Amino acid sequence: MLVKKDVFGAMPDGTEVFEYTIENDAGMSVGILTLGATIHKVVVPDKNGTPVDAVLGFDTVEDYLGKSNYQGATVGRFANRIGAGRFTLDGTDHVLDRNEKGKTSLHSSGEMSFKVWDSLIADSDSVEFSTSVPDGNHGFPGNVKATVRMTLDNSGTLRIEYAAETDRPAPLNLTNHTYFNLAGGGDILSHELKLNCSAFTPVDELSIPTGEIRAVAGTPFDFTAGKPIGADIEADDEQLAFTGGFDHNFVIDGADGSLRPCATASCAESGISLTVATTLPAVQFYAGNFLAGAEGKGGRPMNKRSGFCLETQFYPDSPNKPDFPSCIFGPDRPYESVTEFRFSKLG
Ligand code: GLA
Repeated sequence: MLVKKDVFGAMPDGTEVFEYTIENDAGMSVGILTLGATIHKVVVPDKNGTPVDAVLGFDTVEDYLGKSNYQGATVGRFANRIGAGRFTLDGTDHVLDRNEKGKTSLHSSGEMSFKVWDSLIADSDSVEFSTSVPDGNHGFPGNVKATVRMTLDNSGTLRIEYAAETDRPAPLNLTNHTYFNLAGGGDILSHELKLNCSAFTPVDELSIPTGEIRAVAGTPFDFTAGKPIGADIEADDEQLAFTGGFDHNFVIDGADGSLRPCATASCAESGISLTVATTLPAVQFYAGNFLAGAEGKGGRPMNKRSGFCLETQFYPDSPNKPDFPSCIFGPDRPYESVTEFRFSKLG
């Protein structure tokens, strides 16, 4: 195992951005930026031993600030959407910045994703990032301190441990927004995906959950037995029409706070497989429907559906949905979660 630290670039104000590279003994490496605690690259040997960069990203700080759809970023303090950009907690109304179409709060306006985090090499195989965001930022309550520790082991597992503290009761929901492409290029429609999720949360036309928890059986959302991402993505279905393809919160079967596998994706062409495990109750499966051709690493275009995300999370809009698992943390209830991305060879 080896961890090295290089200068990646600089912010407009001159603050340096570093990239940490963690390399394991099996020829796999992960590059993580201090900007947004962002996963910049994940290099995995394919079935022929040729290295494949299995994630989307950019070559420069400027592009990460100017062209990003959250590629690789750590998202917080509240990943995903809050309906109408407001919620009430303990009788107090909180009005948030509505950064999406002027109507909803998305990814808490990127408050953690586009800033430079503090960082340190925590061990021979791990790097720890930390940051804080102030009370009232984008309308959210609480001074929040967050820590994200990323560890790569020799079995090909990238483990992400999140911890956050708030000095007053507040919603917290942290995730990572990596777009995977296990072929290293092209679209992801022929990737096979299996989700251990028998239900999902349908949304309205602004992608806000309606509150219903709907069985996937008999719908295009049924990935329980595994199928190509592209199999039903164009199906005539109101939910898919609202979001232009899969971009939904899937409820993980049997979620109980322990680390359990929720998704497996694989690509026959490269022979690379990815298993996601999490302690969280749900996962947003997003098929990269909004990618619009921005040039990424090495000039590679990020077109519609050239990457997919599996964002482990609390349910979107849970601050407004008392029946969803509670995302409210406080001085006596710190936030903690673990998500693992395990890369292996197919079959
Ligand atoms: C999340 C959302 C998507 C999209 C991306 C960012 O995954 O669910 O709808 O907004 O972030 O482009």
